[in-house]
Amino acid sequence: MTAQEQFASVLRRRYACRLFDTEHTITDSDIAYILDCGRLSPSSFGLEGWHFYAVISPEKKKKLYAACFMQEAVLTAGLAVVIVCRKAASYKPESSFVRERASRFPGGLDAFIPDYTGYYDYLKNNNLLDSWSRAQTYIPCTSMMIGAAGAGIDSCALEGFENQAVLEILELDPSVWDTGIICVFGYARDKTVPEKIRMPAGEITSYV
Ligand SMILES: Cc1cc2nc3c(=O)[nH]c(=O)nc-3n(C[C@H](O)[C@H](O)[C@H](O)COP(=O)(O)O)c2cc1C
Repeated sequence: MTAQEQFASVLRRRYACRLFDTEHTITDSDIAYILDCGRLSPSSFGLEGWHFYAVISPEKKKKLYAACFMQEAVLTAGLAVVIVCRKAASYKPESSFVRERASRFPGGLDAFIPDYTGYYDYLKNNNLLDSWSRAQTYIPCTSMMIGAAGAGIDSCALEGFENQAVLEILELDPSVWDTGIICVFGYARDKTVPEKIRMPAGEITSYV
């Protein structure tokens, strides 16, 4: 198998698993691996305006289940990762968050701020900062799901959650944080990988 075929087979193997085998536990090293797949994801300007909460305690998982409209996937998963993202105020060019993150890059703040400020102003003036921040959480979520599939671990991305309730469980300030997306992991109860239902390439792709 070529590297392309191998990777494509991982993409085909991943599917939205909605019921996990509660007897087949996910190991600590699996959890660390999945979180690292997220950590290695790219982010706009490299700011990593997110935080990953690995929900493993049964008590917190039960609360999260309620905040996710009682989706069985949450209750049966060995791991739920809540990816939260910073709200608009954190992204001000003069904020301590931006200054700390930017100072890690070659050239430091002096190289970063002029370029960043132009784009920040565009986002701010168009009221796009919160949605820009949230959109980015889908990238580590995808990296985690694909990485998990490559290691034989099943997953499901979840948009079905109540933001406020999730932030309360995590004891986060809603003026600073939003819930971006939740992703659950474990081993499927049913071992059959379902057929992919996808539009043909010709209908969703154009070469222009
Ligand atoms: C951003 C996003 C949010 C999703 N939210 C939910 C959800 O809340 N509950 C659920 O059961 N499935 C959810 N899904 C799973 C999709 O329904 C599923 O990925 C889609 O139907 C394609 O099927 P497949 O992933 O098995 O190929 C979500 C998927 C994505 C990408």
